[in-house]
Amino acid sequence: MSRKIIIDTDPGQDDALAILLALASPELEVLGITTVAGNVPLALTQANARKVVELAGKSVPVMAGCDRPMVRPLQTAEHVHGKTGLDGADLPEPSLPLDPRHGVDFIIDTLRQAAPGTVTLCPLGALTNIATAFTRAPDIVDRVQEIVLMGGGFFEGGNITPAAEFNIFVDPEAADIVLRCGRPVTIIPLDCTHKALITPARLAAFADLGTRVGEVVAGWLNFFERFDVEKYGSEGGPLHDPCVIAFLLRPDLFQGRFCNVEVELGSELTRGMTVADWWGVTKRPANATWIRDIDADGYFALLTERLARL
Ligand code: BDR
Ligand code: CA
Repeated sequence: MSRKIIIDTDPGQDDALAILLALASPELEVLGITTVAGNVPLALTQANARKVVELAGKSVPVMAGCDRPMVRPLQTAEHVHGKTGLDGADLPEPSLPLDPRHGVDFIIDTLRQAAPGTVTLCPLGALTNIATAFTRAPDIVDRVQEIVLMGGGFFEGGNITPAAEFNIFVDPEAADIVLRCGRPVTIIPLDCTHKALITPARLAAFADLGTRVGEVVAGWLNFFERFDVEKYGSEGGPLHDPCVIAFLLRPDLFQGRFCNVEVELGSELTRGMTVADWWGVTKRPANATWIRDIDADGYFALLTERLARL
């Protein structure tokens, strides 16, 4: 039986690959894709998600969720993803319509209809939609099987400030609510994704698929990684969000530790920092599995093999 998931996302080229990987994988049943403001404003993230679903040749409902964080003004990342959020390859305007349901209502209604512990949430952006759903409808929390999210950084520091990773920085109050929800949470932070680099050989493997999907993916990643390659001086930029889907498919590719993770909400200097008690130096209870290592070759091989199916 396939695992039921909801992808909550702000595409974003790496989000787009995560969606493609999920849609290419029969082990997963994508119940819906809820979009959130993040990398670019909501009007673009919802349209981008529909373009990606259409590129995959699948039919999955795409909803627009929250257009801003719970309490703070929105910060976007066009400097990384380009003006459209999906710069690097041109896709036609999607004919798949936007589902009229609000993303938060979709999450609440879908979880209410589900048996306890049966739906996995896959957040790839700011946690606004998920935290808003949990706050408005606390009864849905026990329906969640687990939450596997991309966000945070501890050993690597941050990427939008010295201390904070972008997804958590955009809506730290939402992240705090999710981390305290009491359901199993797995966090795939920069500590992991910075080991999953889009090297020239890995990029070429996508282009060499010889398909429309391969060509588009290569175009996106070529654009997406330029910012980080220049910043870090590495042989490739990190490919963050597909790690979440890869973790569901092949947990053996990842290694981490169950520990306490808290989000800094007070300080202007370190706002959105994820403080992972990796060494257990506090008595704070463990609340999340913090992923620190990845078999990057296995990850890119999985991605290439699955995208070839689309
Ligand atoms: C995260 O921020 C976004 O720019 C990416 O899509 C990813 O989800 C990495 O910090
Ligand atoms: Ca993202």
